Amino acid sequence: MKRAVLLLCLPIAYAQSEGDLGTGKKLFQAHCAPCHGIDGAGGRGANLTLPKLKRAATDQAFFDIAKNGIEGTIMDGAWQLSDGELWKVVAYTRSLGQTARVPIPGDPSLGKVLYGTLGCAGCHIVAGQGRSFGPELTAIGARRSAAYLKEAIVDPGATVPEEFAMVRAKRADGQDVRGMRVNEDSFTIQIRDPSNRIQSLRKAELASLEHESGKSAMPEFRTKLAPGELDDIVSYLAGLRGEP
Ligand code: HEC
Ligand code: HEC
Repeated sequence: MKRAVLLLCLPIAYAQSEGDLGTGKKLFQAHCAPCHGIDGAGGRGANLTLPKLKRAATDQAFFDIAKNGIEGTIMDGAWQLSDGELWKVVAYTRSLGQTARVPIPGDPSLGKVLYGTLGCAGCHIVAGQGRSFGPELTAIGARRSAAYLKEAIVDPGATVPEEFAMVRAKRADGQDVRGMRVNEDSFTIQIRDPSNRIQSLRKAELASLEHESGKSAMPEFRTKLAPGELDDIVSYLAGLRGEP
């Protein structure tokens, strides 16, 4: 008799927690994703999918930050959300960090070979090897989900981290400088051009300055990879979890 009751209860409890994750996801996307990214992997805000967060090591610490914010940063407390809603956001965000442990298709050793033949090391560093034009990939598997990695390769413009955003500046003498915005303040902007040289420009001396959102300095590999090869390279990257 007891066993029958248990069996009846389990699916209900399960369904409820799934629903909570769904609500948590909606709330996260509305209130947190603008800074933390749609997959929580970071943007203007921190990456929240890491197995261990710097300031939010426990669920309670995570909750406190979400509620009260972090003083001196753009991270404000989510005063619009009730405590109950916030706990659902905590549960959902915690689940993101575990997605990486789900087995993914592809052969990492084939992916490693492709990484070499496609010239990825011409722009990326893995464990000290390569060139630092794009982001370091030594621990990319711990920082980004497989879905994100796939997108970063076939459609780089969709996943540009803030510090690699593209800009086009026109100098008063008519010369165009296009590249990644390394740094910017009210008066100057520093742009890394395709030859990996950083140019510092005074804004007052520019004829125009255009932020090219959705553009990336990384070439698209969509047409250069067979579908199976894309899985291979993603599985290789997902396995890179070393210290950067
Ligand atoms: C306006 C942008 C912005 C929004 C919106 C935002 N955050 Fe943040 N968040 C940040 C920034 C920036 C940091 C990093 C602050 C720092 O450490 O300097 C951060 C840090 C955090 C941290 C600490 C991460 C760590 O590494 O320990 C947590 C947890 C967090 N945010 C949760 C949330 C949640 C949950 C929401 C939605 C309810 C949210 N944030 C909304 C910008 C934002
Ligand atoms: C010409 C230089 C260049 C080449 C070649 C290149 N990348 Fe990139 N890559 C970049 C730049 C710049 C970025 C940052 C902008 C962006 O995310 O689109 C980037 C971003 C990425 C990211 C996302 C990193 C993050 O933290 O969001 C991944 C993953 C990646 N590249 C993998 C690869 C792989 C795999 C290859 C080879 C198939 C490759 N790249 C070839 C320049 C390059």
